[in-house]
Amino acid sequence: MKGASHPTNDVSRNPSSNESIQDVIHRVAMGRRQFLMGGASAAALAAAGGLTLGGLVRAVEAAPVTPGLGFPGIGFDSVPARIAPVADAVTVPAGYTAQVFVAWGDPIMPGGASFVGDASESALEQARQFGEHNDGMHFFPFTGADGNLTSDAGILCVNNEYTHEEILFTDGQVGSGYTIAKTRKSQTAHGISIVEARRSSGKWRVNRNSEYGRRITANTPVIIAGPAAGHALMRTNEYSITDTGSIPTGNVTDGHSGYGTVNNCAHGITPWGTFLTCEENFNGNFGATALLPGATTSETGKLFNRYGLTAGGFGYRWHTTDPRWDLAVNPNEANHFGWVVEIDPYDPKAKPVKRTTMGRFKHESAQYVVDRDNRVAFYMGDDERNEYVYKFVCKRPLNTKNNNANKNLLNNGTLYVAKFNANLSGQWIALVPGTIGVDGVALRDNPNFVGGDDEEVLAKILIKTRMAADAVGATMMDRPEWTGARPRIGGFDEVEIYCTLTNNNRRGRAATPTSNKADGSTAAGSAEPAVDAANPRQDNVYGHIIRWREAGKSVTATTFSWDLFVQCGDVKTAKAPKPTNDYKGNIVDTPDGIADFGAPDGLWFDDFGRLWIQTDQAGNAAGDWVNIGANCMACADPNTGKMRRFLNAPPNAEVTGVTMTPDGETMFVGFQHPGEDSTAANPIQFSNWPQAQFAMESDGVTTLPPGRPRSSVVVITKNSGGIIGS
Ligand code: FEO
Ligand code: CA
Ligand code: CA
Repeated sequence: MKGASHPTNDVSRNPSSNESIQDVIHRVAMGRRQFLMGGASAAALAAAGGLTLGGLVRAVEAAPVTPGLGFPGIGFDSVPARIAPVADAVTVPAGYTAQVFVAWGDPIMPGGASFVGDASESALEQARQFGEHNDGMHFFPFTGADGNLTSDAGILCVNNEYTHEEILFTDGQVGSGYTIAKTRKSQTAHGISIVEARRSSGKWRVNRNSEYGRRITANTPVIIAGPAAGHALMRTNEYSITDTGSIPTGNVTDGHSGYGTVNNCAHGITPWGTFLTCEENFNGNFGATALLPGATTSETGKLFNRYGLTAGGFGYRWHTTDPRWDLAVNPNEANHFGWVVEIDPYDPKAKPVKRTTMGRFKHESAQYVVDRDNRVAFYMGDDERNEYVYKFVCKRPLNTKNNNANKNLLNNGTLYVAKFNANLSGQWIALVPGTIGVDGVALRDNPNFVGGDDEEVLAKILIKTRMAADAVGATMMDRPEWTGARPRIGGFDEVEIYCTLTNNNRRGRAATPTSNKADGSTAAGSAEPAVDAANPRQDNVYGHIIRWREAGKSVTATTFSWDLFVQCGDVKTAKAPKPTNDYKGNIVDTPDGIADFGAPDGLWFDDFGRLWIQTDQAGNAAGDWVNIGANCMACADPNTGKMRRFLNAPPNAEVTGVTMTPDGETMFVGFQHPGEDSTAANPIQFSNWPQAQFAMESDGVTTLPPGRPRSSVVVITKNSGGIIGS
């Protein structure tokens, strides 16, 4: 937990001695501006460049790879649903091989110890091992000797969202008492794991001695940047953080720096080659040793109420041994979380930077789009029932001549929140001091954001983003999870964004509907809104996917058009229908029902224009999921909506995180919390995955000893070679 030094340059330390990703982006951008549009690889764009929209449809429907055309289509048959009893394994289509690549506890950097199996590792050992409960991730390829991106080696940046204390400790959270040592281990299993991945002789392995191998945890020094940095609400108690405690220095910080990142759920990347990690349910990690201020009597109490911060949190006990996380002692610490954090994967010494311009909420993912004018926007969801969809537009365009100039692009720009109208139009409402709220009062005159000048007003709008969105009348959504941008290839040139709306059991529930109050006083997740056009189902168990197109194909547009891409569901359900919800959904699959799923969460367009959808339902193969089985990942054609189920998860695991090598021939997929809800007394009560399925990891290292389930990243290849899913 020593301080790291702020980077003074962005010199690549690419071990190939060739160009860094930034160099390649810069070089390719000069010759092929499209590379920067929507994140598709240069190779894929070159291959698909001659396709028309019609050709794209035909290619997908025709399924097999079209020789010479490069568009792979969707060529596998749906794997059947994993209904009860759910096998303790990942299943993939015939002709594919899945292997565990890296699992919680695997060493990922020099000095790292092998996983013991009984979770007796200390925090110091965990600090060199892969974190727990992996989520969003991205593969940053190295460049080869020919100067092109390789598909054999790169850096895999992986979020580690949260921890399951009953599995994380040998004796569970409080078995033999709760100590600072347990807090430190839990904090260290959170964050981000940066892993060097290499393939040799056909086997993918973790380079356990990589100079890029890195853990970013709840205690890593971070920079706080952008308009909210330094505001009084960001000034926290200063602590000296050691292995044995957090000792108050008696000083208050200046609000420009802090420690750590937690609840790193989904992610994003930037067109300039950095990783974005998004802080989601940070409220759960806090607690309080004394009563918290009332939600109506103080600014802090109101903020806690709107963001779901409570004395009990999610049951973590960090605050009992580490006062930094005690809301009664250090209330402003909570304001250091709920941000998008930028990480340079190529510079292990670079401090993560919290980008306050992008707003503070329970961030799920941040998908970028660069439009034809080189303007850059990031599309983001706030994942809680009845929260909102946002976009952030950078003030300056992307500099395609000097990538260094893009380094702080995320420090200036405008945050917008979405309003979806019943006539399939929508507005982006700017969250800036001059915007007039639904009460006719400008945000700068709203008591929640009032400040000495507009600079301070903006800082408060960003720290209290949810309350600003309430004030301007944004549309309450059914839990916005991941966003994905459709690549502009094959003649398709719209700026089209998809967003998973995973579920909402509060939608349409109340006889007299309630909404988030415009004065920002609604407790997190407590409203019971009526159905509306964009969230049309009462008791939305199975969720849906919404998509929108920016007006004028510009990311700076303040209007858009939208429709529902799919309503998820179970065509065989016996659940009693409701007037606005038959629970069957409209997933397009053949035979009908073979690819049905619910609770869509992970969402990602590959470079070839295919949409991958990952699910996070609660439970498997029973109740609402009796026909759908275990969680799964499907692949969809954005033109036709046709879907096929690509894989199934082990019991009690969600599927989250997916990325590919540039050639499309290796796919990394994340499986989180296998065997969730087990007790310390019986960690393998529900699952002993991946050990139950794989005797060895992809590089031949044994996965033994068994003993507890481990969240893992799996590597998937096609036995005959070729693009995954083709
Ligand atoms: Fe961490 Fe909303 O999923
Ligand atoms: Ca169907
Ligand atoms: Ca998620």
